[in-house]
Amino acid sequence: MSHSAAATITARAGIAQDTAFGAVTPPLYLTSTYELPAFRQPGQYDYSRSNNPTRDTLAEALCQLEQGARAIVTGSGMSACLLALQLLGPDDTLVIPHDCYGGSYRLFTNLATRKQAFKLVLINFQESDWSEQVKAAAPAMIWLETPSNPLLQITDIKAVCQLAKNLSAKVVVDNTFLSPVLQQPLRLGADIVVHSTTKYINGHSDIVGGVLVAKDPVIGDELKWWANCLGVTGPAFDSYMTLRGLRTLVPRLQLQQQNTNELVSFLQRQPLVSKLYYPGLTDHPGHAVAKAQQTGFGAMCSFDLAAPAEALPVFFASLQLFTLAQSLGGIESLICHPGSMTHASMDAAAQQTAGIGPTLIRLSVGIEASADLIADLQAGFNAVANWLNTSQHNNNADRVASGNTGTGKGSVEQQFRLNPALTAFW
Ligand SMILES: Cc1ncc(COP(=O)(O)O)c(C=O)c1O
Repeated sequence: MSHSAAATITARAGIAQDTAFGAVTPPLYLTSTYELPAFRQPGQYDYSRSNNPTRDTLAEALCQLEQGARAIVTGSGMSACLLALQLLGPDDTLVIPHDCYGGSYRLFTNLATRKQAFKLVLINFQESDWSEQVKAAAPAMIWLETPSNPLLQITDIKAVCQLAKNLSAKVVVDNTFLSPVLQQPLRLGADIVVHSTTKYINGHSDIVGGVLVAKDPVIGDELKWWANCLGVTGPAFDSYMTLRGLRTLVPRLQLQQQNTNELVSFLQRQPLVSKLYYPGLTDHPGHAVAKAQQTGFGAMCSFDLAAPAEALPVFFASLQLFTLAQSLGGIESLICHPGSMTHASMDAAAQQTAGIGPTLIRLSVGIEASADLIADLQAGFNAVANWLNTSQHNNNADRVASGNTGTGKGSVEQQFRLNPALTAFW
């Protein structure tokens, strides 16, 4: 689908279809239940957990954007993931990538180990023998997240789907990082797409939501049945907000990608960045595949700070524009430390396997003026450079005084790690 078609779908979804009063903007239906036309005579709608006109308008728009047969709007991205997993039974194997959103990883591992809901196999799709590993697992379902969170690793969706077809496995793609404007996994052979609509699709960081889009209407209907049965469908108000946010998805992404390009160029020249992760870079290992299967490189990038972890609080404290917060995809720029925030539910070993280093920093680039965003990061790097000079000076003095050559790592964790009671929910 071209950008212009996506722009038309998003701008026009549900517009000028109100038969009651001719409202141009589709109304918000805040009702839990619907009057029956007569005894034993069902109307179009009966109860809002099953169906709601506002939610249906959003679902229809997202279905068209992903070019699917059915879309189910859910209360969160996690409930969309949970819904897709209803296709699995205890004897089925789910293959997941070794690096994915921490909350998805927590859902998969806990359902597999504590509920025996399915068998789980983790695969590094970046390894050359990934297809052999998948074949050996004999999966019923393969889960992909490309670009992955937080390292922006790219998986070849078409290649995985071709293999999956031979194995009679379903492929689910979490398309949250790009939105249907920049990637349409169903067209590349996937069976199901999930999104956290909390991110780019809503784009204003003011709701939590999700969507599942199925290519096959039979699978879509089965999952719609499960969505009602489990009660994971999304609220009408949040659907209204998401539809409103969706209208500007195309221009938002254009601006966000433009800013990301400029920030990435700046970060490439920054001596305090030891590694930069962005699929738009020609030396990114997934660049060619990203170029082939995406229509843009997105507005997320990550980098390793070339400083000890003790420098992280200094860096974050000196930023004025980038907000230190979870989530991504909103019009405001956010910064996060995946190790202690979005991926805190992965233990240290799992983080290490996934390649999430102690000084990895993730940026979700917004629509602010790029020069201001660059100046903000520069202030952070300047503060770290000053801190490095001072701490080197102080460390030398301390070592001489105490004979202690330790790194003081424990105190950093105390300073920087966020409230552990909260991380349990991330
Ligand atoms: C890639 C990805 N998938 C799923 C989710 C879960 O979405 P939600 O927070 O809306 O439940 C997130 C959340 O950050 C995510 O980044």
